[in-house]
Amino acid sequence: KHRKPFVGGNLKMNGSRAILKEIIDRLNPLKFDDHVEVAIAPPSIFLDLAHRSVRKGVNVAAQNAFNCTKGAYTGEVSPEQLKDLGIDWVILGHSERREIFKESDELVASKVGHALKSDMKVIACIGEKLEERESEKTEEVVIRQLRAISEKIDDWKNVVIAYEPVWAIGTGKVATPQQAQDVHLIIRGWLAKNVSEKVAQDTRIIYGGSVKGTNSAELAKQLDVDGFLVGGASLTEDFIKIIECFI
Ligand code: G3H
Repeated sequence: KHRKPFVGGNLKMNGSRAILKEIIDRLNPLKFDDHVEVAIAPPSIFLDLAHRSVRKGVNVAAQNAFNCTKGAYTGEVSPEQLKDLGIDWVILGHSERREIFKESDELVASKVGHALKSDMKVIACIGEKLEERESEKTEEVVIRQLRAISEKIDDWKNVVIAYEPVWAIGTGKVATPQQAQDVHLIIRGWLAKNVSEKVAQDTRIIYGGSVKGTNSAELAKQLDVDGFLVGGASLTEDFIKIIECFI
């Protein structure tokens, strides 16, 4: 694979300053830079602390950002404000944002477009729910979400796609390596046909959903799996094991 693997740790609404420090103290000594790109995404109130605590080469990502620069949007944070803090990466369209906070394909897409215009790098999440998989709608759903996002992207170099089947998130029910590979290949094939062969070959497609130290190596062997977006395990020492798959 010529693509540099990417591993993100999404802390979601977990952790404290002390826990964040533990996580960063485990990450900072690791020499992974030549092999894998790593980002840690704490809750927004800890972004500044995280940014000041990580060594050069460990990225910090926000878990969300709004689609406007500034204004009367109580509770929201803009990509420009994140950039001001020194944060370069943002996760957008996570299934929890889509489900719990009712973010539509259109809103997610406009957030992606705005973040990229603000010179941020984006981890754009897509993935089907259990009932959609069971009714064989996986491809349809994933491509619908991907198409909406792609319409707002001019330059793909700052985009990582995270395929996260909703039924695998936080459930302990990880996709099999074959299930992940199949969907990653569909995504890459769509990019080749609808964007360009080069974008398809260069864009990293990472998997998320119950990734652990015990299942990451097999998943990482799949041709079109370019890394992971890790939730629960990013809070523990397991995160190091997952990164080490690529070293
Ligand atoms: O963003 C991360 C994903 O939602 C995966 O979460 O590893 O806890 O299943 P999980």
